Amino acid sequence: MRTVLKGMRAVFDGYILRKGVDVAVEFGKIVEINEDLKGDEYVILEDKVLYPAFVDAHTHLIYAGNRVFELEMRLSGASYLEILKRGGGILSTVEATVKASDDELIDATLRRIRVLQSKGVGVVEIKTGYGISYEQEVRLLRLIHEVAVKADVVVVPTLLFHVPPRDMDVEEYLKEFFERYDEYADLIKFVDVFADEGAYGPKETEMILSFYRGKGVPCRLHADEFSPFASHLAAKYGCVSADHLIHTTEEGVKALAEAGVMATLCPITGFFLREGFAPYGMMKEHGLRVALSSDHNPGTAPFLNPFLTVLLAVFGYGMLPNEAFSAHTAAAADSLLLKNLGRIEPGARALMFAMDYTPNELVYWGKVDAPVQPVRF
Ligand code: NIG
Ligand code: FE
Repeated sequence: MRTVLKGMRAVFDGYILRKGVDVAVEFGKIVEINEDLKGDEYVILEDKVLYPAFVDAHTHLIYAGNRVFELEMRLSGASYLEILKRGGGILSTVEATVKASDDELIDATLRRIRVLQSKGVGVVEIKTGYGISYEQEVRLLRLIHEVAVKADVVVVPTLLFHVPPRDMDVEEYLKEFFERYDEYADLIKFVDVFADEGAYGPKETEMILSFYRGKGVPCRLHADEFSPFASHLAAKYGCVSADHLIHTTEEGVKALAEAGVMATLCPITGFFLREGFAPYGMMKEHGLRVALSSDHNPGTAPFLNPFLTVLLAVFGYGMLPNEAFSAHTAAAADSLLLKNLGRIEPGARALMFAMDYTPNELVYWGKVDAPVQPVRF
């Protein structure tokens, strides 16, 4: 059965806006994008703009509780890292998450996914990181897989080394993950490390990256979020992506670009923490490929809205609206090694949405509440 989508004002194909084209779909796949296509049936999307579903390549969606109580502390001058050092921050979410039942965690995660989905997201990477013991981290991996079965989006699981445990030696902690790798190998697609002041230091980060690289697991890194710290490690170990980079340096950017590492930027985080915006202009100048994602988590990015990510990327980084949509679709899919998602081209999965606005119009009117019509087969 060949279905042809017709009548669209424009199609954003993951890279550029195309006018006057139809899209043909067969068996859940896009097979053609061209003028005046014929099919067995037609779906008329009169005056709409068609997009590939957003890809959210960096999230911490599985956790319990929230950190509303930190907001005034931070706005009154306490820094994110100070709160963490005092045992708050990530550690307070760990406490709530460890206490929560499996069902509570699954339900909370599904609720968050549904919000993202209602705004056009079709793919979510989900990191562990609020367990901080071998058992709890592997439990979170299993729960992410249960979420994947129940959710109506594509889910990509990542094991995140978030912060070292407080009650045991960090090398002992890592050793357990290394020795028991075979027990959870099938549950992970990526490994990530929060490498920064107050989190994992360079030595442990290198231990983690070299172990998992040796196992052939692709790695990503929370790098240079609070201090210039880890972009060179992402380059040295050939990570797929270095994320955040709010406080990166020109050397860091050059090293990443030369090593072919992508940057996944999360503008909500810098905005929410008042830490500022990553130097996108410098990245563009050095040819570093940039993806956009939400970083959804209860401490630094509680918002759930990809349009807000796009809007902040445009006004915070100086991206063009088309660049921002491309970074949140095709580039974000590439950063998850999903070459058949985040674009509307032959061979891609037919996971799309339609709305009333082009990228420029959406950004111009600040339509972060734009109604989205799912278009999927
Ligand atoms: O990406 N920086 C590390 N992880 C998250 C924050 C997690 C939290 O505060 O709970 C981030 O910003
Ligand atoms: Fe993060």
